[in-house]
Amino acid sequence: MSPPVDPQILTTVQAHADEHRQIRKLLEVLRAVDDGDALATLLDVLDAVMHEHFAHEEQEQGVFAAIRASGPAGAARIDGFVAEHKVFLAGLEEVRARLAVEAGEALDLARAMGDQLAAHEAAENAAVQAALRPQD
Ligand SMILES: [Fe+2]
Ligand SMILES: [Fe+2]
Repeated sequence: MSPPVDPQILTTVQAHADEHRQIRKLLEVLRAVDDGDALATLLDVLDAVMHEHFAHEEQEQGVFAAIRASGPAGAARIDGFVAEHKVFLAGLEEVRARLAVEAGEALDLARAMGDQLAAHEAAENAAVQAALRPQD
């Protein structure tokens, strides 16, 4: 029989889900953006939100710690998520650099990154759910 779930974990998971909802809304905005100035503004917002969100996930009491604690399968996934965070933050800078040269290419790059970020967040949601599922 598995131990009872720590209520603090549930609060952390709820806050995490709220951040994912916020990011999903920003990614919807990104899909609709069609000019360089709007993209530049959105990149500033995404930069702040993504840095804060990734830090929350990776902090000592964050959801990644809970997933890691759930077993070796969870721990392996976290290493992948953390590596992807670095790729996304580098990708933001790449989009900014591209925007300084050619807005259309920057928009394509940003949308591709947005799709990858949406997949990343969905995979995290699945990992959180798996970690919270009672073990027999
Ligand atoms: Fe993440
Ligand atoms: Fe996330």
